[in-house]
Amino acid sequence: MHSAPTISTQGLSRRFGDLVAVDSVDLRVYSGQFFGFLGPNGAGKSTTIKMLTGLLAPSSGRIEILGLDLSTHPVEVKRQIGVVPEGMALFGRLTGAEFLSFAGRMYGLDRETAAKRAAELLEFMQLADQPRKLVTDYSHGMQKKLALAAAVIHGPKILFLDEPFEGVDAIAAGTLKAMLQGMISRGATIFLTSHVLEIVERLCSHVAIIHQGRLVAQGSLEELRAGVEAQAPAGGDGEPRPSEKLTLEEIFLRVVGGTRRSEQELSWLG
Ligand SMILES: Nc1ncnc2c1ncn2[C@@H]1O[C@H](COP(=O)(O)OP(=O)(O)O)[C@@H](O)[C@H]1O
Ligand SMILES: [Mg+2]
Repeated sequence: MHSAPTISTQGLSRRFGDLVAVDSVDLRVYSGQFFGFLGPNGAGKSTTIKMLTGLLAPSSGRIEILGLDLSTHPVEVKRQIGVVPEGMALFGRLTGAEFLSFAGRMYGLDRETAAKRAAELLEFMQLADQPRKLVTDYSHGMQKKLALAAAVIHGPKILFLDEPFEGVDAIAAGTLKAMLQGMISRGATIFLTSHVLEIVERLCSHVAIIHQGRLVAQGSLEELRAGVEAQAPAGGDGEPRPSEKLTLEEIFLRVVGGTRRSEQELSWLG
């Protein structure tokens, strides 16, 4: 049995005018989980993660992080979490080391500890070889690595990442994954969003699928697989699937009721 969830929401909703971007979402994420929040573009992932981290107010619903109500304890919560939101703006006129030290100081680390961790993080992220380079001159992938480094410098209990692998090359992605897996093995909880099934399937132990603002599935990969198979046995669509496990893509397509249309789409493209 689980103890209390590390992240929980009840009826979490956000409207933008007439659009219900996030619709009555009940999330349960437990300590130590590597949790993937999966959904197509526009499903409501970024809106949800902004609400979970106090960057955007919900229209309605409750959020508890580490047992604290986010609406009444925003400062205590923010001290214990790290966030890399979408389109994060970094302070460009600093070097990487200056930026990370600044981030550490903002989280209340003393000067010495902040500088030491900044140097270690730059080394780990393979950003240490051009110490004079300003953040504004960093490539997109380098900025993403730096943003992640800044989000973990205070040793957060929970890390929230919005599409952390977008626009990141394979080498940088490997570095990011190594850092995240290290954090998980030391007991942190990670909540990441992605529209890329393979990323979630490879990294995450637990998954929630959001579609048009609504949570359509939630659980461990094994639980999702079992649920989908119970509804529609593998091979029921005519494809013979001898004793093969459903991939997350197949689970996803069945849960959101989609079909693969790549063959008929945009035939005029050639
Ligand atoms: N600030 C905003 N104003 C109006 N609509 C928004 C705003 N932010 C997001 N939306 C809309 O909410 C829906 C969900 O967006 P988002 O959470 O960014 O999706 P995802 O991250 O899953 O791609 C989309 O239809 C998007 O256009
Ligand atoms: Mg998004």
